[in-house]
Amino acid sequence: MGRIVVTGGSGKVGGTVIAVLLEAGHTILNLDLMPMTHPAVHTLKTDLTDSGQVFNALSGQWSLTEPFPEGLPPRPDAVIHLAGYARNMQVPDNETFRANTQGTYNIIDAACKLGVRKVIIASSITVYGISFAQGVVDYPSFPIDEDQDVNPTDAYAIAKLCNERIARGFATRYGTDIYSLRIGRVIGPDEYNQDIFYSYVHEPSQWKVHGWSYTDVRDLGGMCEAALRTNGLGFQVFNATNDTMTNLMHTEEFLREHYPQTPITRGMDKFEAPLSNAKIKRLLGFQEKHPWRKYFTLWDKKPVVRGENGDVS
Ligand SMILES: NC(=O)c1ccc[n+]([C@@H]2O[C@H](COP(=O)([O-])OP(=O)(O)OC[C@H]3O[C@@H](n4cnc5c(N)ncnc54)[C@H](O)[C@@H]3O)[C@@H](O)[C@H]2O)c1
Repeated sequence: MGRIVVTGGSGKVGGTVIAVLLEAGHTILNLDLMPMTHPAVHTLKTDLTDSGQVFNALSGQWSLTEPFPEGLPPRPDAVIHLAGYARNMQVPDNETFRANTQGTYNIIDAACKLGVRKVIIASSITVYGISFAQGVVDYPSFPIDEDQDVNPTDAYAIAKLCNERIARGFATRYGTDIYSLRIGRVIGPDEYNQDIFYSYVHEPSQWKVHGWSYTDVRDLGGMCEAALRTNGLGFQVFNATNDTMTNLMHTEEFLREHYPQTPITRGMDKFEAPLSNAKIKRLLGFQEKHPWRKYFTLWDKKPVVRGENGDVS
């Protein structure tokens, strides 16, 4: 149990991650531009791209009380950094890059210099370069693990990769544990029976962009908890994805049929997700609680409703 600063706690991922952390007994301070209404969590409106605000927030009070407690406020035990633009095309590319790298630099810089010993940052499977590629790009091999070379070409994923380098540099210089979670497409409990998951299951050829893998938002909370529990690993990158592939075929059979040119470098479990989470299970002891088959009910085929761009996500 500790004092955890979460950034971006008012967003899609943050609300559930905070709920999981509260359940585990942690005290939370949320830094975000937007409010979050939870009786046990104070949100300090903080622009992470402003270093002064970030240093101040990380060394300030944990909640509003009258009067404030005597003495210096306690230092955070850990920071979980989720804030930022969560995809391309919310703002122009240069702003995606500026805000996401500057915000991450500022929080890691302040955490390390103020003596916080653990920082967990939200990276993305988009660093593998397929999701927001221009045109069709293939994975070099399967399974896709953290050792694979990464050369993303879009602003969002390049920023995520830069953030991993920032994290590595600071972890080395300050001896801080900084774990980067390469998160897959996040699926909330209500999305298993919507078009996105229906299409994963019934139109698997469309979903190379998500690596036929996903991240249950509650399991992501569990991954953050696992990352808080395990110390002493320095800088690490983890695929933060669930165990099984998002369609019904056996994994190797599916990959061989669709990508006969792409090597499979080890034997894969029957339904193993192509984005391998073996490392986060091995080093952090993460155990999935929310396999998609537990919630999915749309086994029969029907037409998929698509947006203007053919998008269902
Ligand atoms: N949602 C996904 O499928 C997905 C997949 C991979 C990685 N991620 C990563 O996970 C993290 C959380 O994603 P999400 O889906 O919850 O996004 P979201 O957009 O729902 O939430 C992001 C939060 O960050 C806050 N924020 C943005 N800029 C800020 C700033 N300068 N200062 C303070 N707060 C700021 C926003 O107000 C928002 O509450 C992001 O880093 C995202 O890149 C998400």
